[in-house]
Amino acid sequence: MRLKFDSLTAQQNQSFHNHALLSWYDGVKRNLPWRDTKDPYCIWLSEIILQQTRVDQGMPYYERFVEVFPTVHDLANASEDDVLKLWEGLGYYSRARNLHATAKNVSQNLNGEFPDSYAGLLELKGVGPYTAAAIGSIAFNLPVAAVDGNVYRVLARYFGIASSIDETKTKTLIADLAQKVLDVHRAGDHNQAMMELGATVCTPKQPACAACPLNESCVAFQQQVQLELPVRTKKTKVRNRYFYYAVYVVDGRVPIYRRGEGDIWQGLYEFDLFESEKKLSEQGVIDMLGIAEDAVVESVSEEFKHVLSHQRIFSRFVLIRSESRPNVIGKWVSVNELRNFAFPRLVNRYLERTGFVIDAEVSNI
Ligand code: ADE
Repeated sequence: MRLKFDSLTAQQNQSFHNHALLSWYDGVKRNLPWRDTKDPYCIWLSEIILQQTRVDQGMPYYERFVEVFPTVHDLANASEDDVLKLWEGLGYYSRARNLHATAKNVSQNLNGEFPDSYAGLLELKGVGPYTAAAIGSIAFNLPVAAVDGNVYRVLARYFGIASSIDETKTKTLIADLAQKVLDVHRAGDHNQAMMELGATVCTPKQPACAACPLNESCVAFQQQVQLELPVRTKKTKVRNRYFYYAVYVVDGRVPIYRRGEGDIWQGLYEFDLFESEKKLSEQGVIDMLGIAEDAVVESVSEEFKHVLSHQRIFSRFVLIRSESRPNVIGKWVSVNELRNFAFPRLVNRYLERTGFVIDAEVSNI
Protein backbone atom coordinates (compact mmCIF):
# COMPACT_ATOMS: atom_id res chain seq x y z
CA MET A 1 0.00 0.00 0.00
CA ARG A 2 1.27 3.46 -0.81
CA LEU A 3 0.39 6.25 1.53
CA LYS A 4 0.98 9.71 0.24
CA PHE A 5 2.25 11.27 3.45
CA ASP A 6 5.89 12.09 3.94
CA SER A 7 6.80 10.91 7.37
CA LEU A 8 4.92 9.23 10.15
CA THR A 9 6.54 11.35 12.80
CA ALA A 10 5.14 14.51 11.36
CA GLN A 11 1.65 13.00 11.36
CA GLN A 12 1.89 11.75 14.89
CA ASN A 13 2.81 15.17 16.08
CA GLN A 14 -0.31 16.72 14.80
CA SER A 15 -2.76 17.89 17.39
CA PHE A 16 -5.81 15.91 18.28
CA HIS A 17 -9.10 17.79 18.40
CA ASN A 18 -10.34 16.67 21.75
CA HIS A 19 -12.80 19.43 22.09
CA ALA A 20 -14.47 18.59 18.79
CA LEU A 21 -14.64 14.93 19.80
CA LEU A 22 -16.27 15.62 23.16
CA SER A 23 -18.76 18.17 21.80
CA TRP A 24 -19.75 15.67 19.15
CA TYR A 25 -20.15 12.98 21.82
CA ASP A 26 -22.23 15.24 24.05
CA GLY A 27 -24.54 15.87 21.12
CA VAL A 28 -24.98 12.40 19.67
CA LYS A 29 -24.22 9.93 22.44
CA ARG A 30 -26.63 7.10 22.80
CA ASN A 31 -28.70 6.91 25.92
CA LEU A 32 -27.34 3.67 27.32
CA PRO A 33 -28.39 2.35 30.73
CA TRP A 34 -24.83 2.11 32.08
CA ARG A 35 -24.26 5.74 31.21
CA ASP A 36 -26.73 6.82 33.90
CA THR A 37 -24.70 5.40 36.73
CA LYS A 38 -21.33 5.69 38.41
CA ASP A 39 -21.81 2.42 40.27
CA PRO A 40 -18.58 0.49 39.56
CA TYR A 41 -20.49 -2.81 39.74
CA CYS A 42 -22.81 -1.74 36.91
CA ILE A 43 -19.97 -0.27 34.87
CA TRP A 44 -17.96 -3.45 35.33
CA LEU A 45 -20.97 -5.59 34.30
CA SER A 46 -21.53 -3.50 31.19
CA GLU A 47 -17.88 -3.65 30.19
CA ILE A 48 -17.67 -7.43 30.60
CA ILE A 49 -20.82 -7.86 28.51
CA LEU A 50 -19.52 -5.42 25.89
CA GLN A 51 -16.25 -7.37 25.62
CA GLN A 52 -18.47 -9.94 24.09
CA THR A 53 -21.04 -8.24 21.94
CA ARG A 54 -22.20 -5.03 20.33
CA VAL A 55 -24.06 -2.40 22.31
CA ASP A 56 -27.52 -3.13 20.89
CA GLN A 57 -27.17 -6.84 21.52
CA GLY A 58 -25.57 -6.38 24.93
CA MET A 59 -28.20 -4.05 26.30
CA PRO A 60 -30.90 -6.65 27.13
CA TYR A 61 -28.26 -8.81 28.80
CA TYR A 62 -27.07 -5.89 30.90
CA GLU A 63 -30.62 -5.03 31.92
CA ARG A 64 -31.36 -8.60 32.89
CA PHE A 65 -28.20 -8.96 34.94
CA VAL A 66 -28.83 -5.73 36.84
CA GLU A 67 -32.43 -6.71 37.45
CA VAL A 68 -31.72 -10.26 38.61
CA PHE A 69 -28.49 -9.38 40.46
CA PRO A 70 -28.78 -5.75 41.58
CA THR A 71 -25.61 -5.88 43.67
CA VAL A 72 -22.30 -7.67 43.46
CA HIS A 73 -23.35 -9.76 46.47
CA ASP A 74 -26.42 -11.04 44.63
CA LEU A 75 -24.29 -12.11 41.71
CA ALA A 76 -21.70 -13.67 44.02
CA ASN A 77 -24.37 -15.73 45.77
CA ALA A 78 -25.96 -17.03 42.56
CA SER A 79 -25.33 -20.56 41.29
CA GLU A 80 -23.04 -21.01 38.31
CA ASP A 81 -25.94 -22.51 36.38
CA ASP A 82 -28.04 -19.39 36.93
CA VAL A 83 -25.22 -17.13 35.80
CA LEU A 84 -24.59 -19.22 32.69
CA LYS A 85 -28.29 -19.28 31.93
CA LEU A 86 -28.44 -15.48 31.97
CA TRP A 87 -25.28 -15.31 29.85
CA GLU A 88 -26.62 -17.85 27.38
CA GLY A 89 -26.30 -16.70 23.79
CA LEU A 90 -23.38 -14.37 24.40
CA GLY A 91 -20.71 -17.03 23.82
CA TYR A 92 -17.26 -17.35 25.42
CA TYR A 93 -18.65 -18.85 28.57
CA SER A 94 -15.31 -18.61 30.34
CA ARG A 95 -16.13 -14.90 30.56
CA ALA A 96 -19.31 -15.69 32.45
CA ARG A 97 -17.35 -17.90 34.82
CA ASN A 98 -14.77 -15.16 35.34
CA LEU A 99 -17.59 -12.70 35.95
CA HIS A 100 -18.96 -14.96 38.64
CA ALA A 101 -15.53 -15.55 40.20
CA THR A 102 -14.83 -11.82 40.29
CA ALA A 103 -18.19 -11.09 41.89
CA LYS A 104 -17.36 -13.64 44.60
CA ASN A 105 -13.92 -12.12 45.08
CA VAL A 106 -15.27 -8.56 45.38
CA SER A 107 -18.14 -9.64 47.60
CA GLN A 108 -16.13 -11.85 49.94
CA ASN A 109 -12.62 -10.41 49.96
CA LEU A 110 -13.07 -6.74 49.09
CA ASN A 111 -16.09 -5.97 51.17
CA GLY A 112 -18.22 -5.51 48.08
CA GLU A 113 -16.10 -2.59 46.83
CA PHE A 114 -14.49 -2.59 43.40
CA PRO A 115 -10.85 -1.41 43.39
CA ASP A 116 -10.57 2.27 42.46
CA SER A 117 -7.05 2.06 41.00
CA TYR A 118 -5.99 0.83 37.58
CA ALA A 119 -3.61 -1.74 39.11
CA GLY A 120 -6.30 -2.97 41.49
CA LEU A 121 -8.83 -3.35 38.67
CA LEU A 122 -6.28 -5.25 36.58
CA GLU A 123 -6.04 -7.87 39.30
CA LEU A 124 -9.66 -8.87 38.83
CA LYS A 125 -10.23 -12.02 36.81
CA GLY A 126 -11.53 -11.25 33.34
CA VAL A 127 -10.35 -7.64 33.50
CA GLY A 128 -7.51 -6.83 31.11
CA PRO A 129 -5.89 -3.48 30.31
CA TYR A 130 -8.74 -2.27 28.13
CA THR A 131 -11.50 -3.14 30.58
CA ALA A 132 -9.54 -1.81 33.57
CA ALA A 133 -9.07 1.49 31.72
CA ALA A 134 -12.75 1.62 30.73
CA ILE A 135 -14.02 0.90 34.25
CA GLY A 136 -11.39 3.07 35.92
CA SER A 137 -12.06 6.08 33.71
CA ILE A 138 -15.86 5.80 33.67
CA ALA A 139 -16.45 4.91 37.33
CA PHE A 140 -13.50 6.68 38.99
CA ASN A 141 -12.35 9.20 36.39
CA LEU A 142 -8.87 7.64 36.30
CA PRO A 143 -6.78 9.20 33.51
CA VAL A 144 -6.14 6.04 31.51
CA ALA A 145 -6.91 5.51 27.83
CA ALA A 146 -9.00 2.45 26.93
CA VAL A 147 -7.63 1.02 23.70
CA ASP A 148 -9.53 -1.69 21.87
CA GLY A 149 -9.87 -2.64 18.20
CA ASN A 150 -12.11 0.35 17.49
CA VAL A 151 -9.61 2.76 18.97
CA TYR A 152 -6.71 1.20 17.04
CA ARG A 153 -8.68 1.81 13.89
CA VAL A 154 -9.67 5.38 14.72
CA LEU A 155 -6.14 6.38 15.67
CA ALA A 156 -4.41 4.47 12.87
CA ARG A 157 -6.59 6.43 10.46
CA TYR A 158 -6.37 9.75 12.25
CA PHE A 159 -2.58 9.70 12.46
CA GLY A 160 -2.08 7.78 9.22
CA ILE A 161 -0.20 4.87 10.75
CA ALA A 162 0.82 2.55 7.96
CA SER A 163 2.57 -0.20 9.93
CA SER A 164 0.64 -3.36 10.74
CA ILE A 165 -1.49 -3.29 13.87
CA ASP A 166 -0.72 -6.99 14.24
CA GLU A 167 2.76 -5.97 15.31
CA THR A 168 3.37 -5.25 18.95
CA LYS A 169 5.33 -2.11 18.25
CA THR A 170 2.45 -0.59 16.29
CA LYS A 171 0.06 -1.46 19.07
CA THR A 172 2.37 0.16 21.59
CA LEU A 173 2.70 3.23 19.39
CA ILE A 174 -1.07 3.60 19.13
CA ALA A 175 -1.60 2.95 22.84
CA ASP A 176 0.93 5.70 23.61
CA LEU A 177 -0.86 8.07 21.25
CA ALA A 178 -4.20 7.19 22.83
CA GLN A 179 -2.79 8.07 26.23
CA LYS A 180 -1.28 11.28 24.89
CA VAL A 181 -4.55 12.53 23.39
CA LEU A 182 -6.72 11.52 26.35
CA ASP A 183 -8.72 14.34 27.89
CA VAL A 184 -7.82 13.74 31.52
CA HIS A 185 -10.58 15.99 32.83
CA ARG A 186 -13.26 13.85 31.25
CA ALA A 187 -11.43 10.57 30.85
CA GLY A 188 -14.54 8.36 30.98
CA ASP A 189 -16.38 10.45 28.42
CA HIS A 190 -13.32 10.70 26.22
CA ASN A 191 -12.91 6.92 26.18
CA GLN A 192 -16.57 6.40 25.45
CA ALA A 193 -16.45 9.04 22.74
CA MET A 194 -13.61 7.15 21.06
CA MET A 195 -15.57 3.90 21.32
CA GLU A 196 -18.69 5.62 19.99
CA LEU A 197 -16.80 7.13 17.09
CA GLY A 198 -15.29 3.74 16.19
CA ALA A 199 -18.63 1.96 16.48
CA THR A 200 -20.87 4.44 14.68
CA VAL A 201 -18.76 6.63 12.38
CA CYS A 202 -15.23 5.34 11.85
CA THR A 203 -16.46 1.85 11.00
CA PRO A 204 -14.26 -0.72 9.23
CA LYS A 205 -15.91 -0.89 5.83
CA GLN A 206 -18.04 2.20 5.32
CA PRO A 207 -16.77 5.01 7.49
CA ALA A 208 -19.13 7.99 7.57
CA CYS A 209 -16.37 10.56 7.24
CA ALA A 210 -18.74 13.42 6.44
CA ALA A 211 -20.24 13.04 9.92
CA CYS A 212 -16.91 12.75 11.71
CA PRO A 213 -15.91 15.50 14.15
CA LEU A 214 -12.24 14.80 13.43
CA ASN A 215 -12.37 14.69 9.63
CA GLU A 216 -10.57 17.99 9.06
CA SER A 217 -7.42 16.76 10.70
CA CYS A 218 -7.66 13.04 9.90
CA VAL A 219 -4.72 11.89 7.76
CA ALA A 220 -6.64 8.98 6.26
CA PHE A 221 -9.52 11.24 5.25
CA GLN A 222 -7.22 13.90 3.83
CA GLN A 223 -5.43 11.31 1.75
CA GLN A 224 -8.50 9.19 1.04
CA VAL A 225 -6.96 6.00 2.41
CA GLN A 226 -9.56 5.28 5.10
CA LEU A 227 -10.30 1.81 3.77
CA GLU A 228 -6.64 0.85 3.67
CA LEU A 229 -6.14 1.58 7.35
CA PRO A 230 -5.45 0.02 9.70
CA VAL A 231 -3.04 -2.38 8.01
CA ARG A 232 -3.31 -6.03 9.04
CA THR A 233 -0.90 -8.82 8.27
CA LYS A 234 -1.89 -11.87 10.27
CA LYS A 235 -4.65 -14.16 9.21
CA THR A 236 -6.21 -16.27 11.93
CA LYS A 237 -6.27 -20.00 11.25
CA VAL A 238 -9.74 -21.46 11.46
CA ARG A 239 -10.30 -25.18 11.95
CA ASN A 240 -13.39 -27.16 10.98
CA ARG A 241 -15.06 -29.48 13.49
CA TYR A 242 -17.93 -31.88 12.95
CA PHE A 243 -20.34 -32.44 15.83
CA TYR A 244 -23.03 -35.10 15.62
CA TYR A 245 -25.60 -35.22 18.37
CA ALA A 246 -27.85 -38.12 19.39
CA VAL A 247 -31.06 -36.74 20.84
CA TYR A 248 -32.80 -39.66 22.55
CA VAL A 249 -36.39 -39.14 23.55
CA VAL A 250 -37.85 -41.74 25.90
CA ASP A 251 -41.17 -41.06 27.54
CA GLY A 252 -40.88 -37.32 26.96
CA ARG A 253 -37.43 -37.16 28.57
CA VAL A 254 -34.05 -36.46 27.00
CA PRO A 255 -30.53 -37.07 28.33
CA ILE A 256 -28.36 -33.97 28.42
CA TYR A 257 -24.72 -33.52 29.39
CA ARG A 258 -22.79 -30.70 30.92
CA ARG A 259 -19.60 -29.95 29.01
CA GLY A 260 -16.40 -30.22 30.96
CA GLU A 261 -13.18 -28.26 30.96
CA GLY A 262 -10.63 -27.85 28.21
CA ASP A 263 -12.82 -27.11 25.22
CA ILE A 264 -15.44 -24.67 24.05
CA TRP A 265 -18.77 -24.24 25.87
CA GLN A 266 -17.49 -25.35 29.25
CA GLY A 267 -20.36 -25.69 31.73
CA LEU A 268 -23.08 -25.54 29.09
CA TYR A 269 -25.38 -28.42 28.29
CA GLU A 270 -25.66 -30.42 25.10
CA PHE A 271 -26.80 -33.84 23.90
CA ASP A 272 -24.80 -37.00 23.50
CA LEU A 273 -22.00 -35.82 21.24
CA PHE A 274 -19.89 -37.67 18.72
CA GLU A 275 -17.19 -35.59 17.16
CA SER A 276 -15.90 -36.75 13.81
CA GLU A 277 -12.67 -35.86 12.03
CA LYS A 278 -14.54 -35.39 8.80
CA LYS A 279 -17.97 -34.58 7.51
CA LEU A 280 -20.31 -37.61 7.53
CA SER A 281 -23.22 -38.52 5.31
CA GLU A 282 -26.65 -39.04 6.86
CA GLN A 283 -26.12 -42.79 6.88
CA GLY A 284 -22.58 -42.29 8.16
CA VAL A 285 -23.92 -40.36 11.13
CA ILE A 286 -26.49 -43.05 11.95
CA ASP A 287 -23.84 -45.77 11.71
CA MET A 288 -21.47 -43.86 13.90
CA LEU A 289 -24.03 -43.25 16.62
CA GLY A 290 -24.63 -47.00 16.95
CA ILE A 291 -28.33 -46.79 17.62
CA ALA A 292 -29.93 -49.48 19.78
CA GLU A 293 -32.10 -52.14 18.11
CA ASP A 294 -35.37 -51.10 19.71
CA ALA A 295 -34.80 -47.44 18.87
CA VAL A 296 -36.17 -45.61 15.83
CA VAL A 297 -34.43 -42.77 14.07
CA GLU A 298 -37.12 -40.17 13.62
CA SER A 299 -35.07 -37.55 11.83
CA VAL A 300 -31.59 -36.42 10.94
CA SER A 301 -31.47 -32.66 10.95
CA GLU A 302 -30.06 -30.40 8.32
CA GLU A 303 -26.55 -29.16 8.98
CA PHE A 304 -26.18 -26.29 11.44
CA LYS A 305 -23.08 -24.17 11.10
CA HIS A 306 -21.66 -22.14 13.93
CA VAL A 307 -18.65 -19.89 13.50
CA LEU A 308 -16.36 -19.03 16.40
CA SER A 309 -13.19 -16.97 16.15
CA HIS A 310 -10.92 -19.98 15.50
CA GLN A 311 -13.35 -22.76 14.74
CA ARG A 312 -16.16 -23.55 12.36
CA ILE A 313 -18.54 -26.12 13.78
CA PHE A 314 -20.73 -28.17 11.45
CA SER A 315 -23.37 -30.08 13.25
CA ARG A 316 -26.32 -32.41 12.75
CA PHE A 317 -28.79 -33.75 15.27
CA VAL A 318 -30.30 -37.22 15.13
CA LEU A 319 -33.64 -37.50 16.88
CA ILE A 320 -34.14 -41.02 18.20
CA ARG A 321 -37.27 -42.38 19.85
CA SER A 322 -37.05 -45.42 22.00
CA GLU A 323 -39.23 -47.41 24.42
CA SER A 324 -36.44 -48.00 26.87
CA ARG A 325 -33.60 -45.81 28.02
CA PRO A 326 -30.33 -46.49 26.25
CA ASN A 327 -27.31 -47.01 28.40
CA VAL A 328 -26.14 -43.40 28.62
CA ILE A 329 -24.95 -41.46 31.63
CA GLY A 330 -26.60 -38.10 30.94
CA LYS A 331 -29.08 -36.32 33.13
CA TRP A 332 -32.61 -37.17 31.99
CA VAL A 333 -34.81 -34.10 31.84
CA SER A 334 -38.28 -33.60 30.47
CA VAL A 335 -38.57 -31.89 27.11
CA ASN A 336 -40.48 -29.05 28.79
CA GLU A 337 -37.60 -28.40 31.14
CA LEU A 338 -35.02 -27.98 28.40
CA ARG A 339 -35.47 -24.23 28.36
CA ASN A 340 -34.18 -24.04 31.94
CA PHE A 341 -30.72 -25.19 30.92
CA ALA A 342 -28.05 -23.16 29.23
CA PHE A 343 -27.19 -24.59 25.82
CA PRO A 344 -24.76 -23.29 23.21
CA ARG A 345 -26.45 -21.18 20.58
CA LEU A 346 -25.93 -23.95 18.01
CA VAL A 347 -28.02 -26.39 20.07
CA ASN A 348 -30.66 -23.76 20.78
CA ARG A 349 -31.06 -23.12 17.09
CA TYR A 350 -31.86 -26.78 16.60
CA LEU A 351 -34.27 -26.80 19.56
CA GLU A 352 -36.07 -23.75 18.26
CA ARG A 353 -36.19 -25.04 14.69
CA THR A 354 -37.71 -28.32 15.73
CA GLY A 355 -40.13 -26.77 18.21
CA PHE A 356 -38.59 -28.46 21.24
CA VAL A 357 -38.16 -25.10 22.85
CA ILE A 358 -40.50 -22.40 21.72
CA ASP A 359 -39.72 -19.38 23.88
CA ALA A 360 -35.98 -19.56 23.83
CA GLU A 361 -35.84 -16.09 25.39
CA VAL A 362 -32.40 -14.55 25.04
CA SER A 363 -30.87 -17.41 23.15
CA ASN A 364 -31.76 -16.11 19.73
CA ILE A 365 -30.07 -12.80 20.27
N1 ADE B 1 -17.94 -0.68 24.31
C1 ADE B 1 -17.25 -0.99 25.39
N2 ADE B 1 -17.56 -0.20 26.42
C2 ADE B 1 -18.51 0.64 25.97
C3 ADE B 1 -19.24 1.70 26.55
N3 ADE B 1 -19.07 2.02 27.82
N4 ADE B 1 -20.11 2.35 25.78
C4 ADE B 1 -20.28 1.99 24.51
N5 ADE B 1 -19.63 1.03 23.91
C5 ADE B 1 -18.74 0.35 24.63
